[in-house]
Amino acid sequence: MSVLLLIFLIALNVSVYCKADVCPCETQELCQQIRDEKDFEVFVFDVGQKAWKSYDWDKVTTVAAFGKYDAELMCHAHSKGARLVLKGDVSIPEMVDPANRTAWITDQVDLAKRQFMDGINIDIEQEVVDSSSEYYALTALVRETTEAFHREIPGSQVSFDVAWSPKCIDQRCYDYVAIAESCDLLFVMSYDEQSQIWGDCVAMANAPFNQTLTGYYQYLAMKIDPKKLVMGVPWYGYDYPCLNFSQEGVCTLAMVPFRGAPCSDAAGRQIPYSVMMKQVNGSMSGRLWDEVQRAPYYNYKDQSEHVHQVWYDDPESISLKVAYVRNQGLRGTGMWNGNLLDYSTDPVAWQQSKDMWEALMGL
Ligand SMILES: *[C@@H]1O[C@H](CO)[C@@H](O)[C@H](O)[C@H]1NC(C)=O
Ligand SMILES: *[C@@H]1O[C@H](CO)[C@@H](O)[C@H](O)[C@H]1NC(C)=O
Ligand SMILES: *[C@@H]1O[C@H](CO)[C@@H](O)[C@H](O)[C@H]1NC(C)=O
Ligand SMILES: *[C@@H]1O[C@H](CO)[C@@H](O)[C@H](O)[C@H]1NC(C)=O
Repeated sequence: MSVLLLIFLIALNVSVYCKADVCPCETQELCQQIRDEKDFEVFVFDVGQKAWKSYDWDKVTTVAAFGKYDAELMCHAHSKGARLVLKGDVSIPEMVDPANRTAWITDQVDLAKRQFMDGINIDIEQEVVDSSSEYYALTALVRETTEAFHREIPGSQVSFDVAWSPKCIDQRCYDYVAIAESCDLLFVMSYDEQSQIWGDCVAMANAPFNQTLTGYYQYLAMKIDPKKLVMGVPWYGYDYPCLNFSQEGVCTLAMVPFRGAPCSDAAGRQIPYSVMMKQVNGSMSGRLWDEVQRAPYYNYKDQSEHVHQVWYDDPESISLKVAYVRNQGLRGTGMWNGNLLDYSTDPVAWQQSKDMWEALMGL
């Protein structure tokens, strides 16, 4: 083999090897993973494209990349001292085997390293039976993932998404105490709280004030550290077609069962905040406020004259809940998801989006 060819092959090899590891940012420094903690976490789910350019980066501390990996987002997040974390989802039955768990975790850590990312958000919303082999496997998965990330990427963050309450919501009977101890934080999905309606099958708020707080009382009563809890609020609402719309404004729903409950929010459709804000003023009712659930809603008629009731959250309902986060000294807030606001230059939309970001801080 000629020396030239040898040099060429070595160079090729080096370039191929380095390709995955070449820092895509303006400076090498921006590829460094974030190590320091902010006092108040603002945890954002991002589902892709470029809405992140309009986020309020003075507030964001973590972005969970649920869309396609975007190197530009990574560089930008790091320039603002914010973490960018992977989405982790896997079938729990396949994680009962320890070798499979290790293989999965190794893949996640390698992927995070190659992409200069700062951790992982484990989003496994599967049914698990209390004390089953899956129940223990899930806890082990979280513990082992956290150990591996902390060891391999110093300062990295491992979070786990939980339902609004630890009481086997949607048959997610997990070992919440052990999982909380095994990771850096729980993102509490304080929404979809009507996923299982056991009482009257009627339209209700996505995240009623009392029901939301009840979930936190339950987590805290298990002695879970308040600093492990991030309150996730919805930047979307539910549009329910009413089977019957009573004089009193009660919207009766079609019975759509979910995981054992006879009626659920699956009778409705999830709608982004940006869409509702364009609809509410011209609706039948305009914005109404429910004093019991402490949430806004409105009624409208569709093209075939059917009444719909739309329940959502806005800065007023979110601020009430975030006041609780502050009073209890929880870790912070977040939302599903960052893309759901109107980030256009329209001045009304601009103000509405600004108010939604402000509400997360509860100040
Ligand atoms: C291991 O995981 C693979 C897929 O990732 C799956 O097909 C297989 O059934 C798993 N093995 C066990 C023993 O769970
Ligand atoms: C349906 O709505 C009408 C009009 O408000 C009301 O009179 C009626 O009692 C409702 N029916 C049921 C089954 O709730
Ligand atoms: C809807 O009405 C509210 C309250 O009157 C107003 O502040 C807002 O600008 C209106 N929204 C739009 C899109 O016109
Ligand atoms: C909400 O909770 C408070 C305190 O636990 C209670 O006094 C109140 O009656 C509850 N309201 C509703 C609508 O459930």
